[in-house]
Amino acid sequence: MKALSTVIELQRQLRKMNLAPVGFVPTMGALHEGHLSLAKRAIQQCPVVVISIFVNPTQFNDKNDLKNYPRTPDSDLELLKSVLREADLVFIPGIKEIYPEEDKREFHFGNLDNVMEALQRPGHFNGVAQVVSRLFEIVKPDIAFFGLKDFQQLAVIKALVKQTGNKVKIIGGSIIRESDGLAMSSRNRLLDPEIKNHAAIIYKTLSAAARMIKNYDIPEIKSFVRDSISMVPGFSIEYFEIVDDIELIPLSTKEEMKKDRQYFGCIAVSAEKIRLIDNIEIGLV
Ligand code: PAF
Repeated sequence: MKALSTVIELQRQLRKMNLAPVGFVPTMGALHEGHLSLAKRAIQQCPVVVISIFVNPTQFNDKNDLKNYPRTPDSDLELLKSVLREADLVFIPGIKEIYPEEDKREFHFGNLDNVMEALQRPGHFNGVAQVVSRLFEIVKPDIAFFGLKDFQQLAVIKALVKQTGNKVKIIGGSIIRESDGLAMSSRNRLLDPEIKNHAAIIYKTLSAAARMIKNYDIPEIKSFVRDSISMVPGFSIEYFEIVDDIELIPLSTKEEMKKDRQYFGCIAVSAEKIRLIDNIEIGLV
């Protein structure tokens, strides 16, 4: 693999190799098994894979969150060396490569802007859309891979691609979990060990919620999830919604479930001020 930091070098290298399809895994670094599983999937499908590492300031609505976001450049490169091939590229741009000028573009995603993460983190998805559209412009991937843990982000990116008429194929990679069920996330490094042990409750609760759908309706499931999470000292729930996979419209009753949609229970928990998100498919059968 080669690590490159400028757009010119990256594009020159891609032109020189002239391989297709080009696979792309955008990341903000602090890499873990979840990112590696996306990289491995990309490798299976593409003769060249670009992994970007860029902590995008425009998607942080909280300055402290941006400041504290984990940055582990050396171990990121070590991890990538263990999975990438000779032809693959790691793109680690500075801010001016991504934003030569301030990005003032505004994106609109209908209901996706009005639920869950969008309400908790105003402006977040606009920043994600800015950076992802810019990275797509630079890398020009044929296939791009995103983790399913960021369920709403995946829906936003699919909507972005549709709006911009980009031909890139978007693939969602399954959530990779620790042995106790906690969804892998760069933010897990910020948890102190005791809190991290307690955080297994999130997936346990989601799994129970997925089983409850057979015998209970949405309000009962939502109140079970709230009670279960709030029992843990230091944990509070930001939201739990059961939504469809396209428009992310929150269900208020099971009768609203449509046969041609999939449904996911999506949760955000504040664990001693660290935000953890997760989701699980919730199906009637
Ligand atoms: O999921 C992430 O790590 C980021 O939101 C992304 C897609 C790399 C954009 O900065």
